[in-house]
Amino acid sequence: MEKKVVLTGIKPTGMPHLGNYLGAIKPALELAETYEARYFIADYHSLNTVKDPQTLRDYIYEVAAVWLACGLDPEKVLIYKQSAVPETFELTTLINAFTSKGLMNRAHAYKAQVDANREKKKPDDHNINMGLYTYPILMAADILLFDAELVPVGKDQKQHIEMAADIAEAVNRNYKDKLLTIPEPYIDESTMVINGLDGRKMSKSYDNAIPLFCTEKQLKKFCNKIVTNSQAVEEVKDPDNCNVFTLYKLFATEEQQKNLAETYRAGGMGWGYAKGELFNVLNDFIKPKRDKYNELMADKSYIDKVLSDGAEKARVLASRKMEILRRAVGVK
Ligand code: TRP
Repeated sequence: MEKKVVLTGIKPTGMPHLGNYLGAIKPALELAETYEARYFIADYHSLNTVKDPQTLRDYIYEVAAVWLACGLDPEKVLIYKQSAVPETFELTTLINAFTSKGLMNRAHAYKAQVDANREKKKPDDHNINMGLYTYPILMAADILLFDAELVPVGKDQKQHIEMAADIAEAVNRNYKDKLLTIPEPYIDESTMVINGLDGRKMSKSYDNAIPLFCTEKQLKKFCNKIVTNSQAVEEVKDPDNCNVFTLYKLFATEEQQKNLAETYRAGGMGWGYAKGELFNVLNDFIKPKRDKYNELMADKSYIDKVLSDGAEKARVLASRKMEILRRAVGVK
């Protein structure tokens, strides 16, 4: 039996954090073991917000290096830059003709921006470019071009996948043919929410994130910034109600967890000690990946090679698909 196609886009917007690793990168790499995986860098989606060319270039390398360092095997997973597959933009034009403006008006991300404008007493269209407005159409093209069946995304992107399915259905209905594969969102409810430095969900926008890769010194600093209560050293502490221990559990062995929990409950342990133990397990876990990351970033020729090989393979699939579509709609 043929493997199902799983596809997702990775928006280059800066160094992913630990929550992104556990909630998105790791599960996507696991899915790639069972499915035919196509993971691409959605660089034109980032252009909506990242307007400095060097910053965008850096972000693209960073995110490619992160995924490779975390174990993405380019022999097994097709990895490419969205911008290197021009068929994506041709398909965008094609499906524009099948996408009602009203559908875009209903997109959560767009509506959130309008709401934010109203709150600040700005005009509805303030700071909204057409890239943001038509974001779901470009995303639909990314997905439909490669006949993706499953699209692993976070909950915030579910609506976009549903829109891609709506658009595909509109095309299929018009031509009375199964031209486009109807995609399904793949949302893993079991993926955990990782808490940040202040105990809230780890998120760049809360400024409470621990970056996946930074220097050891910086990592230590982040660990020390984790918010704890103001109990004195001699007091007995509760591991089950502690931001440090919650993170520790994600990376420590059962044995290590048992030992540190006992130290908490025995009293006589300062927060600095617990934070040091967290740093140790985190650093042990991250170090081999970080070394690989630094190596890839020091000489970018490997990343360049992976991305250009990926683009070549992706374009074979994309041009085949586009040719079928050109004929079906009558431009050929
Ligand atoms: N919009 C997604 C995000 O913000 C990235 C993305 C772009 C994507 N194109 C996609 C995800 C296609 C899945 C499928 O994270």
